[in-house]
Amino acid sequence: MAFKVAVAGATGNVGREMLNILEERGFPVGEVVALASRRSVGTEVSFGDRTLKVKALDGYDFSDTDICLMSAGGAVSKEWSPKIGKQGCIVIDNSSAWRYDQDVPLIVPEVNPDAIDGYTRRNIIANPNCSTAQLLVALKPLHDAATIKRIVVATYQSVSGAGKEGMDELFTQTRAVFVADPVEAKKFTKRIAFNVIPHIDVFMDDGSTKEEWKMVAETKKMLDPKIKVTATCVRVPVFIGHSEAVNVEFEKPITADEARDILREAPGCLVIDKRENGGYITPLESAGEDATYISRIREDSTVDNGLNLWVVSDNLRKGAALNAIQIAELLVARGLIQPKQKAA
Ligand SMILES: NC(=O)c1ccc[n+]([C@@H]2O[C@H](COP(=O)([O-])OP(=O)(O)OC[C@H]3O[C@@H](n4cnc5c(N)ncnc54)[C@H](OP(=O)(O)O)[C@@H]3O)[C@@H](O)[C@H]2O)c1
Repeated sequence: MAFKVAVAGATGNVGREMLNILEERGFPVGEVVALASRRSVGTEVSFGDRTLKVKALDGYDFSDTDICLMSAGGAVSKEWSPKIGKQGCIVIDNSSAWRYDQDVPLIVPEVNPDAIDGYTRRNIIANPNCSTAQLLVALKPLHDAATIKRIVVATYQSVSGAGKEGMDELFTQTRAVFVADPVEAKKFTKRIAFNVIPHIDVFMDDGSTKEEWKMVAETKKMLDPKIKVTATCVRVPVFIGHSEAVNVEFEKPITADEARDILREAPGCLVIDKRENGGYITPLESAGEDATYISRIREDSTVDNGLNLWVVSDNLRKGAALNAIQIAELLVARGLIQPKQKAA
């Protein structure tokens, strides 16, 4: 069985990672097509030891394509995903365009795989925000064990979460600081080099930001609508890897030792938690890795049944590309998709 897969946004941070992961995990592809904006037509991207010439998404005929891995931003997805879905190609979208649509399943395979059945209503499946994906991989097994009541989370999000322009801005500003050139902020609202910015996405009426709202809405949609969530999302001068300081209050008692044992067995999780110098994970070490790492697990004595955790993952992988390909694998594993083209 071999599928025709299109990667839309193939020249971007997430799209390139999708191509790497399709190859690494041996996803059953017959043909891979790299799509981006008209600006990139004819440029080349790597897929294993092959080179793919980029084609334009605009006007591409998806009628013989099985899966479109979409990472070209919300506006592009709003316009294109329904048209692609109508051509019988399943869209797995990385933007926030469809996550809150009742007819679109929002999936992290380790958390709510059974919700995938709803994809047929639009032929679109949404990938969550990068910060929510890693949070829920770590919290789902603890919720199953002791029922989460409330989550307080502060994020430390890398610049790659803002696309390739975000990475370029950190690099250019850092260099400018060292050579005493003027420092210009274009992508971010303030200087990001040697700084942190408590503002990601637009402001909402209640003073929170859209990024913070996404963590609340997506946790409720995927894990449990009864859980209370409050988030503060912060951009930090790290290239790849989002970190989260998480405080969780449970209905039932759970000790740090019990949580550590549960997370050691949990899918997608890796516990690195030694109470000594360096006995925890940092975002630098998570880059290029698939796991959601959990460190600094400890009891919070200021509330009943409270735990603190430090959760770190590669935002381009579990936060985006890896999760999307795991969703494609889930479609195949459950027999929900058959290749349109018969093997020669
Ligand atoms: N980075 C993360 O951690 C992360 C995590 C979760 C979700 N996401 C989401 O994934 C999407 C992509 O993010 P990214 O970080 O990869 O951004 P990026 O590095 O800026 O790449 C954007 C991609 O979209 C393409 N694109 C832009 N306008 C287009 C158009 N009109 N038609 C077709 N393609 C177009 C670009 O092609 P050109 O090169 O031709 O402009 C490029 O391939 C966004 O929706 C983002 O919110 C990102």
